[in-house]
Amino acid sequence: MRQAQKFCWPALTMGVCYYPEQWDESLWRSDLQRMKKAGITVIRVAEFAWSKFEENEGEFTFDFFDRFLALCVEEEMQVIFSTPTATPPAWLTEKYPEVLNATKEGVLYRHGLRRHYNYNSPVYQQLCARIVEQLAIHYGQHPAIIGWQIDNELNCEVDEFYSQADDDAFRVWVRDKYQTLPELNKAWGTAFWNQGYTDWQQVHLPRPTVRGTINPHLHLDYLRFISASAVRFCTMQSEILRRHLRKGCFITTNGLFDYVDNHRMTDEALDIYSYDSYPDFAFELGRTIDHNDLNDRSWSMKLTNVRAISPNFMIMEQQSGGNGWTTRLEAPAPRPGQLTLWAMQSLAHGADCISFFRWRTSIMGTEIYWHGILDYDNRDNRRLGEVAQVGEMLRKLQPLCGAAHKAAFGVIRDYDNEWDARVDAWHGRMHDPSRWEIFEGAQRSHAPYDEVWLGMDTEVAELAKYQVLIYPHAVIMTEARAKLLEDYVQQGGTLIIGCRTGYKDATGKCVMLPQPGLLGKLSGSDVTDFTFASPAEEAPTILWDGEALPAPIFADILHPAEDTKVLACHNTSYFKGQPALTEHPYGAGRVLHWGAGFSAAAVRKLLSYTGVAEPFRDVAQLPENVELVVREKDGKQYLFVLNYKSWTETIRLQKPMKSLLSGEVRQGEVALPAYGVDVFEMN
Ligand code: GAL
Repeated sequence: MRQAQKFCWPALTMGVCYYPEQWDESLWRSDLQRMKKAGITVIRVAEFAWSKFEENEGEFTFDFFDRFLALCVEEEMQVIFSTPTATPPAWLTEKYPEVLNATKEGVLYRHGLRRHYNYNSPVYQQLCARIVEQLAIHYGQHPAIIGWQIDNELNCEVDEFYSQADDDAFRVWVRDKYQTLPELNKAWGTAFWNQGYTDWQQVHLPRPTVRGTINPHLHLDYLRFISASAVRFCTMQSEILRRHLRKGCFITTNGLFDYVDNHRMTDEALDIYSYDSYPDFAFELGRTIDHNDLNDRSWSMKLTNVRAISPNFMIMEQQSGGNGWTTRLEAPAPRPGQLTLWAMQSLAHGADCISFFRWRTSIMGTEIYWHGILDYDNRDNRRLGEVAQVGEMLRKLQPLCGAAHKAAFGVIRDYDNEWDARVDAWHGRMHDPSRWEIFEGAQRSHAPYDEVWLGMDTEVAELAKYQVLIYPHAVIMTEARAKLLEDYVQQGGTLIIGCRTGYKDATGKCVMLPQPGLLGKLSGSDVTDFTFASPAEEAPTILWDGEALPAPIFADILHPAEDTKVLACHNTSYFKGQPALTEHPYGAGRVLHWGAGFSAAAVRKLLSYTGVAEPFRDVAQLPENVELVVREKDGKQYLFVLNYKSWTETIRLQKPMKSLLSGEVRQGEVALPAYGVDVFEMN
């Protein structure tokens, strides 16, 4: 069973990211005072400031941050201190180029941006361990410091590693995993195209190959290795910090990036997980903006993922200005109200601390267009006004601190399938779109959901919290997971699976079983034929109760077992009229097998059929454009309504409810202005 979250914020808190090393010291005090005036009580510092502590190798100085932190004590500002390992100093990479990451072709990433190091270089590990230990010894008991951030955004910018150090470490990792060469050859299916290994020295990271295609089983292990390397790097730092930190100080890092098992990392190394939320990416130049689309609202999907790691997470970087680098990314300033809306989106989904990025826009470097709260001119502005307003709102919403998210159903995910979907284009083609369509279907039917991540130690009790679970395309299925799902269904759960379930094992090799493989007994269905939707034919649909539901990408033609009911049939192509959706009673529960990729319309219908659509319709009726989220604590439920549109939307409250924000009791039609948010006490 996963460990419970180890640190919880005692109150809803507002913070900001600050870079004392980028500003004249004469600005520090007034910056801190202005932050406090706006309601900011916590700052995150030092994640890129290695040279302020070790300008030359082995010579440690602390006076710069000593001065700054003394001021923080005076001004009663709390601090989250960071380990600065995301940006090694120039002396380090110049002297020890083996610490650098490389492209697959072996070209080293050089000094000049960030995250150009690799996790596996013994030299880098030693130098990082040393700076972290020095900082922990010097600042571990500092009265201003309440928490620590490890590194910055592990696996951001670049999430593949091809340095010599990684190649060496991969060989060790593989040997540890498989022990013998015959086992390795079996796992990687090396009988295919004569890829067998006869010596461990022949084993390498993916390297340039003809057409760039690599052995998929090796590739899947490579992604697992990247994750293991990132987790180990983080754990190494956290173990050092833990030896020196004041009791009560928490450890976190900010995510969420590919090829990191965030659950494992949080369990092993962190007390709370943080996320950097930038919904303005939805409006980046070059994107097609559909005004009726979910756009920035889709960040709720990412926040749902974050909540599955830490139920009450923190936002380390919350959007406060327009996005931009000098070389890429151009997105507009948040419209009046949007900064507040996005902060409330984070809060609704489980954040108890929201820290904005960044206090003042940088006047130098790559990110002069990544706008913070203040502009270069340092005057009070519209965005600072909104931040102060968010501070006011947090004060009124304090009863919500630590509240749990209330979900109508769950979506199962696991890292094997996440990463296999990156390795295997056939899998990937369904994986991301279905995830999106499930989110959209749930959002539009106001059925909030949680993600349930399966790990080695997941227990059935974690699944049993949900009356309905969707496991969209569990291409990889293991005996242990099949057993877990069986227990869940046996006890009364409803499991919905999609097409292409169960045709691979944990190595990514295909199993010689009828699909859905190890879930066949549970689903009472047998896939007798299957195909990609042909671009030469009409868009596939499935006919369910007279409704033709889009059934994209892939079709599984199902054959029901004797006790299995056919609910719907394919409506197109050569398999028109053949079973497409089955329902199989099993124990006290049932399994629905949907023989296609998911569409939002199909998801809505499946949620209605299984009784979890619109769970709060007796409380509030909302237009599709308004997001509904519910948090609960101490027997009380709180209803969030969020309008992401630039126009007013009208909601209907079915009973009198008090707004925590205005204090007014409202019932019936209530206008929610452009980008407006409200939070009602439901009972
Ligand atoms: C985050 C990062 C910050 C800053 C911001 C804007 O990914 O943690 O340091 O770079 O994006 O680009």
